[in-house]
Amino acid sequence: MLNNEAVLNALSQVMDPDLHQDLVSLGMIKDLKVNRDKVSFTIELTTPSCPLKSKIENDARQAVLDMTEAKEVEINMSARVRNEKPVTMDKNQFKHVIAVGSGKGGVGKSTVSVNLALVLARDGAKVGLLDADIYGPNIPRMLGIDHLPEFGAAGEKPPLAEIHGMKVMSIGFLVQNGQPLIWRGPMLHSAIQQFITDFDWGDLDYFIVDLPPGTGDVQLSLSQTLPLTGAVIVTTPQQVAVDDASRAVGMFEKLEVPVLGIVENMSYLLMPDGSKLAVFGTGGGEHLAFRTGTPFLGSIPLDPEIGRGGDIGSPVVLLSETNPSAQAMREVARKVAAQASIKAYEQEGRG
Ligand SMILES: Nc1ncnc2c1ncn2[C@@H]1O[C@H](COP(=O)(O)OP(=O)(O)OP(=O)(O)O)[C@@H](O)[C@H]1O
Ligand SMILES: [Mg+2]
Repeated sequence: MLNNEAVLNALSQVMDPDLHQDLVSLGMIKDLKVNRDKVSFTIELTTPSCPLKSKIENDARQAVLDMTEAKEVEINMSARVRNEKPVTMDKNQFKHVIAVGSGKGGVGKSTVSVNLALVLARDGAKVGLLDADIYGPNIPRMLGIDHLPEFGAAGEKPPLAEIHGMKVMSIGFLVQNGQPLIWRGPMLHSAIQQFITDFDWGDLDYFIVDLPPGTGDVQLSLSQTLPLTGAVIVTTPQQVAVDDASRAVGMFEKLEVPVLGIVENMSYLLMPDGSKLAVFGTGGGEHLAFRTGTPFLGSIPLDPEIGRGGDIGSPVVLLSETNPSAQAMREVARKVAAQASIKAYEQEGRG
């Protein structure tokens, strides 16, 4: 007989490929309705950026068609970013704090941070982006914004810059263009703390933090200020970058920050005939991921459009859906979201 129980029974055979648990046990099935031979339900994913969204939908539909008498299955895909233990800082709440770091400068941390934040926001999550590079803030230029909005009412937290549906903070909004900041460690620490607690981030699904290069004060301050879901390590393929990235992995391990994975940036130049030219060698990022036992989150091509986009405040993921660099960036971002879901699920103590 076709009833709720029969449908749930079928859906309990469908696994979330990332969380390795079935959709029913994960509490993802909502609004289940059976009307004669028609079944409808909602699948509530753990992130709107789920890279396996269509696989999960297809698997669920197939399971219900195969295992029950249903003739028609209507599925509504939705998402709620979950974290049983969100980070609360004053009135702000962050479900996932994700830092983007590397050992080496100039490998593309800020570029990855901006595009990662944008992909998550465009997929439907509530996103904040903090430029924690106090000495070399690049996020304002990369997003084409240079100031904060006017302060609101007295007693309210100062507002953040908002663009493309996400909130953004950078020291670059507070100092004049091109002026150097010469601060000692303690000032830097209190700046990071203030950026996190004193501004009006509200409730965020993802709080992305763009780190300066290296393994220094800011990394330490951040991990002391709030618990991180994890860190994304950016490297380029060259051995020197990989060596530094490996030090960054070691630092996060020491700070007990999980590493969500490795991104290899500037991996190859896409040639007009479709072949890939490995300008800086191949496999550095993947090898590092393998060696450190962390996921490899993908490769991003070396593309003049990415560099230009960074200079004119037009990040590559805002280009067309079919642009190969935008696609690579999107794929990386969704893998990061999946890894964050996995980490949160593991921390829940497996349900
Ligand atoms: N895949 C890419 N293809 C072409 N240019 C890129 C790519 N990734 C980054 N760039 C450019 O390279 C430069 C350095 O990138 P970015 O500022 O993101 O690196 P970073 O690691 O944040 O640097 P820093 O260590 O100074 O913070 C920027 O001009 C950026 O636009
Ligand atoms: Mg940077």
